[in-house]
Amino acid sequence: MKKRGIQYVVKKSDGFYPSEEMKKIANITDPQIYEKAAKDPIAFWGKMAKEGITWEKEWDKTYVEKLPYFEWFKGGKLNFSVNCLDRHLAHPDKTALIWVPEPDTEPSIKISYEELHDKVCKFANVLKANGVKKGDVVSIYLPMVPQALIAMLSCTRIGAIHSVVFSAFSADALKARIEDGQSKILITSDGYYRRGKPEDLLTKAKNAAKKTTIKKIIVVNRIGKKVRGRRFLNFEDEIKKAPSYCKPEMMNSEDPMFLLYTSGTTGRPKGIVHDTGGYATQAYWTCKWNFDLHPEDIMWCTADIGWITGHTYAMYGPLLTGATTLIYEGGPDFPNPGRWWKIIQDHKVNVFYTAPTAIRMFMKTPQKWITKYDLSSIKILGTVGEPIDKESWMWYFRTIGGSRCPVIDTWWQTETGGTLINTIPGIGPFIPTISGKSFPGVKHIIVDDKGYPMPKGRQGFLAQQSPFAPGMLHGVFNNHKKYVSTYWEKFKTMYDTSDGAYLQNGLIRITGRTDDVMKVAGHRLATAEVENAIHDNKVVGDCAVVPMPDKIKGQVPIAFVVLKKGHPSKDLEQKLKKHVDIKIGPTARPARIFFVEDLPKTRSGKIMRRILKSLLIKEEPEGLMTLVNPSSVEKIKDTITENP
Ligand code: WTA
Repeated sequence: MKKRGIQYVVKKSDGFYPSEEMKKIANITDPQIYEKAAKDPIAFWGKMAKEGITWEKEWDKTYVEKLPYFEWFKGGKLNFSVNCLDRHLAHPDKTALIWVPEPDTEPSIKISYEELHDKVCKFANVLKANGVKKGDVVSIYLPMVPQALIAMLSCTRIGAIHSVVFSAFSADALKARIEDGQSKILITSDGYYRRGKPEDLLTKAKNAAKKTTIKKIIVVNRIGKKVRGRRFLNFEDEIKKAPSYCKPEMMNSEDPMFLLYTSGTTGRPKGIVHDTGGYATQAYWTCKWNFDLHPEDIMWCTADIGWITGHTYAMYGPLLTGATTLIYEGGPDFPNPGRWWKIIQDHKVNVFYTAPTAIRMFMKTPQKWITKYDLSSIKILGTVGEPIDKESWMWYFRTIGGSRCPVIDTWWQTETGGTLINTIPGIGPFIPTISGKSFPGVKHIIVDDKGYPMPKGRQGFLAQQSPFAPGMLHGVFNNHKKYVSTYWEKFKTMYDTSDGAYLQNGLIRITGRTDDVMKVAGHRLATAEVENAIHDNKVVGDCAVVPMPDKIKGQVPIAFVVLKKGHPSKDLEQKLKKHVDIKIGPTARPARIFFVEDLPKTRSGKIMRRILKSLLIKEEPEGLMTLVNPSSVEKIKDTITENP
């Protein structure tokens, strides 16, 4: 029998607000919290860190800023895994993690806090036995399996820095990240299940590790492949042999905890560095306040651990708060489009967090696959990764939330570590397409390109002001210059988000990236990365990649290629697409490749991608006067029309 769940929102003239039921349970309901925190953000965060996080030693200075760097809780000591595990052992049987494998013939697995603690201690000892020391980088290339969480937490146990690489990325992409971090250990699996079939991962991992610093590859056996060779260790066998307690390494608050590579405007992804204490504080409190997570809640964040959302909300945030996190191995529509909704029903998920791409995909599937399931356990819905349009927001609100639950539209970035702009469930309002306010104690401003505030309601650049949020990046790994040029060059004393935004009734509405970064199905990719991959082919003379709006994925990459000479062979488009798969991964594959004679360029040789974007959406391009070759534009227009 389907139940109607609790009504958590009420409708008012300007949007939805928390109902009395929501206010009764919410971790925070005081709308004054923003003003209170703004009076002294440093003191506010100090109080939050003390209350939310277990410290071995308290800090000497709450905040030290020497731009472009800043440090939170300086002198404080803590261990991150202790905060996720040991401190919850008063309830040892409480489920920390529910793992749902893709094959529906395999049962779900529940891992208690005590079991997870035990495995993490043991695997931390395995890492130590293999020479991993505090400060070393460990590469993790795993699908959504419990061992991914165990491996990551084990690194934090001993103060090693984890660097997780999305399992759908290619061997080349993994290799580049291994080389940048100089890691000696790679943790991977033989494969995983995707849409009913075993997918190989080990071959990619092996190829990536060739001629790198990797000494040992620790393999999770998931699809039953035989793995032989001196360099390979079996994850479970090693755990069985390992001693069962591992003393946590006490880290400085500002010691790096993990690297996560993300795309910027150039072809080379940057290793974003996150520290320990500041990140922990923000992950904890954003889970508590933005997702109203309570220890008895089950949170399902559908993001892969290869992305920051997977790090902070599929894993660390829920564990820091002592709640239960659910992770799912496979495809959203396998064996049928009811899979996700059945998971929510079966496991009584309370907080569900996903991306607009998934929402748009499910809007288009026959609704019977969704409406047949009981979704009354849901309390909060979250969305992240790209702007969400009103229609998708309303569909999510009505169909998944039964018009009962707030939709929290969280704006943040790999660099920010945790959510930063959204409305809080106990406070509201929840308005389609509006993200909301900066988290208490954080300040954003909308400015023109010189850094001056924009008049209210006008679109500008979104920048963050000092003191910067505790979860913010600690730099770009081994690349000070890049850190400065990407985030601090434009506004000097403000962090440049590279997003556009405007204010609507005092609330922030995000309009999207202002740089050459695409969001393809929520995945962050630089146009330059895809261009570099296409340039590898010797016949390619020139190339430009631009995002084109897509009904499901938000954006898809489209490539324009100029050949050195002659005409494209019949299979060249396929060949180039395949090469992008190998170089980066299928997420980056251009939806179309247009072969053109020339690309629109300025006198200084800059390709005018803006013009290409206009042509793709059939808009009249502006700024043709600045081109050296305005005639190229008509020809490209024809090519697009002739090859729909
Ligand atoms: C975009 C993902 C609109 C934005 C956590 C940002 C959003 C980039 C939203 C970061 C949102 C994220 N509304 N746009 N709610 N959330 N974005 O590093 O352009 O993968 O700069 O982090 O995603 O992507 P990243």
